[in-house]
Amino acid sequence: MSYPEIRPRRLRRTPAMRRLVAETRVNPAELILPMFVKEGLTDPRPITSLPGVLQHSRDSLRKAAAEAAQAGVGGIMLFGIPEQRDPSGSGGADPDGILNVAIRDVIAEVGDATVVMSDLCLDEFTSHGHCGLLTPDGEVDNDATLTAYAEMAVVQAEAGVHVVGPSGMMDGQVGVVRRALDAAGHQDVTVLAYAAKYASAFFGPFREAVESALEGDRRTYQQDPANLRESLREVALDVAEGADMVMVKPALPYLDVLSAVRDAVDVPVAAYQVSGEYAMVEAAAANGWIDREAAILETLTSIRRAGAQMILTYWAVEAAQLLRERY
Ligand code: PBG
Repeated sequence: MSYPEIRPRRLRRTPAMRRLVAETRVNPAELILPMFVKEGLTDPRPITSLPGVLQHSRDSLRKAAAEAAQAGVGGIMLFGIPEQRDPSGSGGADPDGILNVAIRDVIAEVGDATVVMSDLCLDEFTSHGHCGLLTPDGEVDNDATLTAYAEMAVVQAEAGVHVVGPSGMMDGQVGVVRRALDAAGHQDVTVLAYAAKYASAFFGPFREAVESALEGDRRTYQQDPANLRESLREVALDVAEGADMVMVKPALPYLDVLSAVRDAVDVPVAAYQVSGEYAMVEAAAANGWIDREAAILETLTSIRRAGAQMILTYWAVEAAQLLRERY
């Protein structure tokens, strides 16, 4: 019987040793909290498919944004839910539309204490639920949508947002948004491009969160889950068009994409741990099938390890607290 001289287990013996040799550490400053604000609400409302996540009123959003900043999260990403929708999603570019009002509220509340970001997309504002304008035949019209995004970007910038997140997967959206911002004197507003965004079943609970009744699906503009190289092409285009940061979305089912994107570019890479990823863990935990806190930290650590420098997660505030307790 020969015994091993080399024993990897030595480095796993105690919590102190494991902490010392850990290769990946999630920092609260790298977490970004997505937040929903609904027009006309007086009290915040729970979202059944996202237990623990709220549709905020304007007031509760301000408070929750201040708490998130206090908890040390790196940023917040705002999504608006309008009372009225129309085919062109006109609420998005209305300075008095809910998202733009919410940006002003949150900026007034937190200032520069955290980075304030806004979703730049039409799906929350269109009656058909698509991320863009439709042609008479019902196709998503790429170039007409770009004009709408440019207008929306400028309105968000005027409201004071620090970062816009074009998320509609229209060709050329980053370049158009960058040029529109620059032409309006908003050279300092940062673009976080949803560069590699897949047509994913994991966005399911988000539809309830924003009350979107999508007609059809998004497969003519979001990517096929079968493809990885296509993401590298999308990311390269977005960087060439002026993206300051790029995102891969969803996160956990696409860790290989995340890793490849990290290797391919030098700009910061974000990952979005989407609604379905959150809901799966919450549902399993509610049934007693999984250790909730351990699962949350394991998913975040894995996304970080795969190459994400920043993570959008509905657990951002809670995870920031857990990370402080455990490290
Ligand atoms: C588009 C947008 C979506 C999500 C974030 N931005 C919906 C979609 O593209 O279908 C989904 C986020 C999530 O599922 O948590 N405005």
